[in-house]
Amino acid sequence: MCGIVGYIGMKDAFPILIKGLKRLEYRGYDSAGVALLNSEGELNVYKSKGKVKNLEEYCIGKDVSGTIGIAHTRWATHGEPNDLNAHPHYSQSENIALIHNGIIENYLAIKKMLVREGYTFKSDTDTEVLVQAIEYIKKRYDLTLSEAVQRTLKFVIGAYAIGVIEKNKPDCLVAARKGSPLIVGIGEGEFFLGSDATPIIEYTSNVIYLNDEEVVLLQRNKKPVVKTLKDEDVHHDIIKIKLQLEDIEKGGYPHFMLKEIFEQSKSLAMCMNGRLNTELMEIKLSGITTNIERFRSAKRIIITACGTSWHAALIGKYLFEEFCKIPVDVEVASEFRYRSPVIHSDDILIPISQSGETADTLAAMELAKSHGAFIYGICNVVGSSIARGTDSGTYTHAGPEIGVASTKAFTTQVTVLIMMALQIGRELKTLPEARYKKIVRELANINTKIEECFELSKEIRKISSVFTYARNFMYLGRGYNFPVALEGALKLKEISYIHAEGYPAAEMKHGPIALIDEEMPVVVVSPKLKTYEKIVSNVQEIKARKGKIIAIVTKGDVDIKKMADFCIEIPDTEECLTPLLTVIPLQFLSYYIATVKGRNVDQPRNLAKSVTVE
Ligand code: G6P
Repeated sequence: MCGIVGYIGMKDAFPILIKGLKRLEYRGYDSAGVALLNSEGELNVYKSKGKVKNLEEYCIGKDVSGTIGIAHTRWATHGEPNDLNAHPHYSQSENIALIHNGIIENYLAIKKMLVREGYTFKSDTDTEVLVQAIEYIKKRYDLTLSEAVQRTLKFVIGAYAIGVIEKNKPDCLVAARKGSPLIVGIGEGEFFLGSDATPIIEYTSNVIYLNDEEVVLLQRNKKPVVKTLKDEDVHHDIIKIKLQLEDIEKGGYPHFMLKEIFEQSKSLAMCMNGRLNTELMEIKLSGITTNIERFRSAKRIIITACGTSWHAALIGKYLFEEFCKIPVDVEVASEFRYRSPVIHSDDILIPISQSGETADTLAAMELAKSHGAFIYGICNVVGSSIARGTDSGTYTHAGPEIGVASTKAFTTQVTVLIMMALQIGRELKTLPEARYKKIVRELANINTKIEECFELSKEIRKISSVFTYARNFMYLGRGYNFPVALEGALKLKEISYIHAEGYPAAEMKHGPIALIDEEMPVVVVSPKLKTYEKIVSNVQEIKARKGKIIAIVTKGDVDIKKMADFCIEIPDTEECLTPLLTVIPLQFLSYYIATVKGRNVDQPRNLAKSVTVE
């Protein structure tokens, strides 16, 4: 989704802004732009369709001087991706420039009013309406830039993170947020803005997180002045972020996605660190320990999420029902928030989100909160909006995930859900102690098995080259591995643009079987589980119709191996832990198919890493 960078200080702003935009490329975008104030106080705006490097080329020979500036990568919502619609947007007089992430819902009403006042518009964007409105209010009430921003935002309905600068005001960078993320980096007499920490950490690890409906005025060598829209003063403690530069670089891998696939043993270790005690063989998540009575009295758990996180949520249902005997509903956040869901105060809502910023998940959480439900979050990004809005929760500690196709976020989310279900099940005595111990022991050892799965990469690369012809793929799984089938299909769609469907294996007979012929590759996720015999029959049905079978099986498998065209063998483990292993070959499969097809794996078309609009 859109990315924001800003700088005010003593250094040249342009290189900082461009580097920042490159760091934000992973979020997904289709145009980029920059605005700078030069030493004469002139406000220069440059923008370009396509990648940041196009913008850089476009700026060659232009005046990019200045020690204050704002920059943006745009993921089109209102208006097609072109130079005109790209940010920053000028106001009518070209005295103010603004960048924006989010959606202004009442922009048409504001635009109408401005048109009546004689304003004209160059773009189709809601953002241009906002900058024009700021100029209008500023002139009409004779306000400073930050006052005008404050006053304008009072009338705005929707979500925004903005950065604004003004001609002839070289010591004034104004920013504000509501619903869209925005971080202020605090350096020595200088400040940085970022829609996440990645453009900032190279310069400082000291940040403040703005809250909704807050406006900040940044001036060199002065403290940031933060106010609410109602003009109340706000004090924010400076927070030290732990992110390291190497965490957000490729480290010798051709793509972030591949790096992150191989990072999964490390990220799982971080996720379990201090939570799974290998001497006592027990699990303690502090959020669960503190709130165990809420779980004891819970009539129901609702897990809500989007995309890959929703697939992790589905695995959560199997876990909580099996180990804790608590009924679980799993909800796609965008549907949940617009239904009239029945939510009780003794329900627990678990939002799962890597970024902690997904607009629909955030809204679903707020809805459940307003009905009095207890909110227990599972997020990766520390200090994100969802993490801050919960009553309690567990961070996944996967480290930054840059690849748009989520990999290590998924396995750490599943690991957190496993740990939660084990701890709650034990406390509630719904999980027999011997079984608890057995699974904990196996979980403590899972990283060795994950590393064994990494060794499959070469074999999968070869298999992938066979299937680049395919226009469709089917993924089948049962039980804990049905959500894995969905996840495998999503990974393939996202980065290779091949149509893929995930299905519960037995459901195939009710429709999808009609699609099977000698052209159709079918990935069957079939480790040794209690439904193994059933899935063997499903594989026979595919074989009888000449489908091409790629099977993910447990080492030593006999029955499926006989029928499959390709067999990928993973180590044996407890059934509830199999998703942590079976998903890895599927990640490799989609990665290699996409690279053989020459796709841009880390920046797939039309996708955004963090979807901060509806
Ligand atoms: C986007 C990303 C997906 C992600 C989903 C939910 O669609 O491209 O990879 O699974 O958002 O994101 P979240 O940050 O809430 O987990």
